[in-house]
Amino acid sequence: MSPQMNNIFAAILIAGLVAMMAGFVSHIVYKPKKLEAEAYPIAALETAPVAGGVAAPATAEPVTDLLATADIAQGEKLFKLCASCHSIDAGGPNRVGPNLSGVMKKGHAQAAGFAYSDAFKAKAGAPWTVEEMNTFLWNPKKAIPGTKMAYAGMKKPEDRAAVIKYLQSK
Ligand code: HEC
Repeated sequence: MSPQMNNIFAAILIAGLVAMMAGFVSHIVYKPKKLEAEAYPIAALETAPVAGGVAAPATAEPVTDLLATADIAQGEKLFKLCASCHSIDAGGPNRVGPNLSGVMKKGHAQAAGFAYSDAFKAKAGAPWTVEEMNTFLWNPKKAIPGTKMAYAGMKKPEDRAAVIKYLQSK
C-alpha cells in the first residue's frame, strides 16, 4: 500500500471512530429526554389528566351531601372567580354574564334585560336544582351545550358545594 493510501485509510478509520463516539455520546446525552417522553404516554394524555395523575371524572360528583357542611364564606371567596362576569347583589348590573341575585330561587335565565344564549332561552323559567347547578358549574358547556358562559368549570366538589350554598344565600 502506498503511503497516501495509508493516510486515506487512517483518515477513514478516524472519521468512523469519531462518528461512533458522537453517536455514543449523543445517546448518553439524549437518554434522559427519551425516558421523560415515555413517562407521559399518549394514552394518558387522552384521558385528560388532572394534578396528581388521576383521570378526571366523566361527570360531576354529586354535592348534595357536601352542602350540609359547605362553608358560605368559602363560597363567597370562590365567587371572586365569577365576579368579573357576574354581579350578585339584588339590582346589580348584568355584565358579561347576568346578575345572579336569587338565581337558585328564580330558575334559569332569570335576569331581566340580559341577552341569554338560545340554549338558555330554551330553559327559561325552569328551576335550578342543586344537581343541575352542580353539573353546570362543573362543566358549563357540557351541561348546557351552546351556553355562552366561557368558564372552564370548577373541578373540586367541595368548591362547587360552597359556591352553590353561597348562591342559595343570595
Ligand atoms: C367569562 C365570564 C363568566 C364567568 C367567569 C362566569 N360566568 Fe356564569 N355566565 C356567564 C354568561 C355569559 C352566562 C349566560 C349563559 C348563556 O346565556 O348561555 C352565565 C350564566 C350563569 C348562570 C345562569 C344564570 C341564569 O340566569 O340562569 C349561573 C348560575 C352562573 N353563570 C354562575 C357562575 C358562577 C358561579 C361562576 C364562577 C364559578 C361563573 N358563572 C363564572 C359568564 C360567566
